[in-house]
Amino acid sequence: MNTQISKIAVLTSGGDAPGMNAAIRSLVRSAEFNNIQCVGVQKGFQGLIDSSFELLNMRSVSNILGIGGTFLHSARSTDFMQKKHRSFAYKNLQNENIDALVVIGGNGSLTGASIFAQEFNFPVIGIPASIDNDVYGTDYSIGYSTALETIVESVDKIRDTANSHNRLFFVEVMGRNSGNLALNSSLASGACFVIIPEKEFQLVDLIKRLEENKKRNKKSSIVIVAEGNNYGPSFKIAADLNKVYSAYETKVTILGHIQRGGKPCSHDRILASQLGMAAIESLKLAKYNTLVGLVDNTIINTPISDVINATNKLSNNLYRLNKIISR
Ligand code: F6P
Repeated sequence: MNTQISKIAVLTSGGDAPGMNAAIRSLVRSAEFNNIQCVGVQKGFQGLIDSSFELLNMRSVSNILGIGGTFLHSARSTDFMQKKHRSFAYKNLQNENIDALVVIGGNGSLTGASIFAQEFNFPVIGIPASIDNDVYGTDYSIGYSTALETIVESVDKIRDTANSHNRLFFVEVMGRNSGNLALNSSLASGACFVIIPEKEFQLVDLIKRLEENKKRNKKSSIVIVAEGNNYGPSFKIAADLNKVYSAYETKVTILGHIQRGGKPCSHDRILASQLGMAAIESLKLAKYNTLVGLVDNTIINTPISDVINATNKLSNNLYRLNKIISR
């Protein structure tokens, strides 16, 4: 079915992710190719409420492909949680004759998009962007691969100093309630242990691993800690370990927002470009209120209502592999 969409709005919402700019660029250029006008909304959903709109064209998205962050800016709008403000947003879209909305963001943003779409029967398309890689309906969210590279590069550097001083480092990484970043960075950086929200953690398991390694004459160790793990922050884990085990001097590094910044890697640029065009094609085919994602290297549409009720699960195979080879 081909439905007439002639003007759309795009916003980026929630935590920014490297590659958001590449997604906007692809969306705007694909829209223009299909004779669809595209309006950029500043500061996520807040910009819908405040009517912060600007018409975008081929040239307004030049030279942003390789730049991190989002040139439309992002926010976690608390106003948008109230129906009164969502009504303002709807009126503003109507005043601008906008037919559909494209939301680039993670689970929180997609939840807002879904509520809005249902409330006002307004066509919405979601594009997954979150370093956490926890969005259901896609193997990869925009920004995840770049964040993973940033973590691995950082851990490689920490390893140099850990080796020089025979220390044990706890490196805390982002991911909210997902262990995807932690598990994959552990595998890619050769950490000896990973602590993630999806698996139960006990101090004795870590001590056992450290003791085994010590017997093998291992001089230093890296433990990756997911911020959302069930035990507690990495400083608490290190302090609790120090109370009962003193074989290593311990240090804690919290990587923080460095993980969200930087130039998007090629994988994120290509993924974002694919999903930007897929969003336009989905609108043309009236696949409304869906998320465009890449599953098994194929672009698919998943109803946003399904996306927000599920999460992109951790790979048990990778967890098992990590357990066997990371020592
Ligand atoms: O969802 C992305 C993310 O970076 C999480 O990994 C992290 O928990 C959170 O956002 C931090 O949010 P903020 O930048 O608002 O502190």
